Amino acid sequence: MVIKKIYDTKNELATEFCEFLEDLSFTGDDLHIALSGGSTPKIVFDVLAKDFKQRIDWSKIHLYWGDERCVPPDDSESNYKMTKEHLLDHIAIPEENIHRIEGEAIPFIEKDRYSKLLEEKLPIAYGVPQFDLVILGMGDDGHTASVFPHEIHLWDSDDFCEVGTHPQNQQNRITLTGKLINQAKIVAFLVTGSNKADKVSQILHKKEGHEKYPASLVAPATGKMYWFLDNAAAEGI
Ligand code: 6PG
Repeated sequence: MVIKKIYDTKNELATEFCEFLEDLSFTGDDLHIALSGGSTPKIVFDVLAKDFKQRIDWSKIHLYWGDERCVPPDDSESNYKMTKEHLLDHIAIPEENIHRIEGEAIPFIEKDRYSKLLEEKLPIAYGVPQFDLVILGMGDDGHTASVFPHEIHLWDSDDFCEVGTHPQNQQNRITLTGKLINQAKIVAFLVTGSNKADKVSQILHKKEGHEKYPASLVAPATGKMYWFLDNAAAEGI
């Protein structure tokens, strides 16, 4: 069941997604959520920080990352730094609920450390740590998390995390793999901008060759997947 939710503007999308998150938090259970980097999540974080700081019980929210650049946490490239500036510094979330990927560590050591952390912290379903929600972006090349088309084999790794490489600048990235992402209870893509429209159309309409894009491989076993899109990204569907 792929649910497409299309909005006129990025801010409208962000507000609606924050309400989606608020609704999830009403269960009163702890929620384990994997965050994404990128421009659309940044807008969501700003809305959460401004309008939802009191509406969500952050003591029940446990935050992880779907991917991280292999840079220090104070580097301008760090997904953690972006999240800290736009969200974490503005909400009452216990420090122990924040589980950043250590981008400053040796990549192949960190991917194993983070895999073990996920096994310790998350409920296990069929032998795989299970997130309540994985938030994903999509690049205009069809990558998601940090699984890029030129390394699409990483998606099918037996491990929960892998070390990817950005195709342009060869920057190392730690990324969740398909094994973990597709075990999530819910996956939500946040995709905006006309530069994404072609890939969104190819993937959602399963057009010829769509399988070469990692984002097309996202298919949670629960069947619960949402695409939050603005009109620009949705123009081809
Ligand atoms: C990252 C993200 C990445 C992002 C896409 C889309 O670390 O950059 O995890 O997968 O979601 O590149 O980014 P934009 O939304 O900024 O286009």
